[in-house]
Amino acid sequence: MIFAARMRQIAPSPTLKVTAEADRLRRQGVDVVDLGAGEPDFPTPEHVKNAAHAALDQNFTKYTPSAGILELRQAICQRYDTDYGVAFKPEEVIVTAGGKQALYNTAMVLFDHGDEVVTHAPYWPTIPEQVKLAGATPVIVQTSPEDGFAIHADAILAAVTPRTKAILINSPSNPAGALISEAALATIADEAARRGLWVIADLTYEKLIYDPVPHNLPRILTEKLRDRAVICSAASKAYAMTGWRCGWAIGPAQFIAQCNALQGHSTSNINSITQKAAIAALAGPQDSVTMMLNEYRRRRDAVSEWLTADPRITCVKPRGAFYLFPYVADVLEATGFRSTNEFAEALLAEAHVAVTAGEGFDAPGFFRLSYATSIERLKEGTDRLHAFIARRSAQTRGAATARS
Ligand SMILES: Cc1ncc(COP(=O)(O)O)c(C=O)c1O
Repeated sequence: MIFAARMRQIAPSPTLKVTAEADRLRRQGVDVVDLGAGEPDFPTPEHVKNAAHAALDQNFTKYTPSAGILELRQAICQRYDTDYGVAFKPEEVIVTAGGKQALYNTAMVLFDHGDEVVTHAPYWPTIPEQVKLAGATPVIVQTSPEDGFAIHADAILAAVTPRTKAILINSPSNPAGALISEAALATIADEAARRGLWVIADLTYEKLIYDPVPHNLPRILTEKLRDRAVICSAASKAYAMTGWRCGWAIGPAQFIAQCNALQGHSTSNINSITQKAAIAALAGPQDSVTMMLNEYRRRRDAVSEWLTADPRITCVKPRGAFYLFPYVADVLEATGFRSTNEFAEALLAEAHVAVTAGEGFDAPGFFRLSYATSIERLKEGTDRLHAFIARRSAQTRGAATARS
C-alpha cells in the first residue's frame, strides 16, 4: 500500500460527491435541480464585495499573521460580544479556511490515538472523519425524528467513558436543523467541567435560527468551562461567503496558540483579501442576514408542505440551518429501492434532481434536501420528485402484479 494508513479510515465526502455528479450532468447540458448543495444561493452582500475590491486596490495581497489580522480577530470578538454578551480577546481567536479548518485544527490539537469523542447523529460527515484522522474514535449518540432530533444531555453523558476526551455539539445541526437547548448544554458543560472533558460547539449555522429561541451557547460555555471550550464557526453560511473560505475557532489562548503552530506549518493565513471582506461582513450592517433568513423560512415552510403532500413522506420542521431531512422508508418500500443511496442515485439519473442520501449522515431511510435555492427551482424539484416516486411506485406495483 503506497498511501498512509490514516487514509484507509476515511470516506470521501458524500455531499461533495452529489455536487460533482450534478456538475457532470450539467456540463452535458442536462437541466439539474440541485438540492444537494450546502451553500446559500444568494450572492455575497455588496458591501462585503466592496471591501474586497478595496483590499485589492490597496495591494493588500501579502502574507498576514497565520492566525489572521488583528483587525479581523477583533471584529470576531466584537460580533460575539454584540450577539451573546461574551467578551473574548483576539489571542483567543484563530481565523481559518472555513469552519472546516477550525474543526480540523481542533481535532488535530486535542485528540490522540485511543481518545473517544462523543457527538450526535445524524451528523455532518466531516465531523467523525476528522476525529478518525486525528487517530481518535467517534462515539455516536443517535437522535430521532420523534422528538425533533433533540440532543439530550443524558444520552450524550451516558456515552462518556474514561477514554472520552471531548464532546462535540453541532447546533443548529446539519442535516437535521436541530438545536440543542441551553439547559442541555449547561448540563453537559457542568459534567465536562467535573470530568475534565473539552466541549466543542460547531456553530457554523448560528445565524440561521428561525424562531427567537434562547441559544446563547457561547455564554454557557464561557461561564461553565472557559478553559476547555472551543467554538468553531464561519462567515460561510451567514454571509453567503462559502467560496471565500473564512471561519474561526475561539478557545483558551493556549489552545489557540497550538492551532496557530499547526496552521503555521500547514496552510498559514487564509486569503488576505477574504480577511478584509470578512471584517466588513462581521462589523457591517447585518440586514442581509435577516433578509436571507426570512427567505429561507418562507422556503422551508413551502417545501415542507409540498413534500409532505405525499403522506408517505414525513419531515420534522428544522429549527435552523437550511436543510429538510425527510424520512422516506415507506417511499423506498413502494418504489423498490433498498436504500436512500440507491433512491438518490436514480432520482438524479432519471429525474435530474440532486439530493443527498441519509446513509452519509448515519441516517438510512432519510435524505437531505437543501432549500438554499430559489423557490421556483424548489417547486420544480419537488414536482419532479413526486412524479419520479409515482412512476417508480407504478413500475414496482406492475412488477409485483406480474409475479403474482
Ligand atoms: C455542520 C457544519 N460545520 C461546518 C461546516 C464548514 O463550513 P465551511 O468550511 O464552508 O465554513 C459545514 C459546511 O457545510 C457544516 O455543515
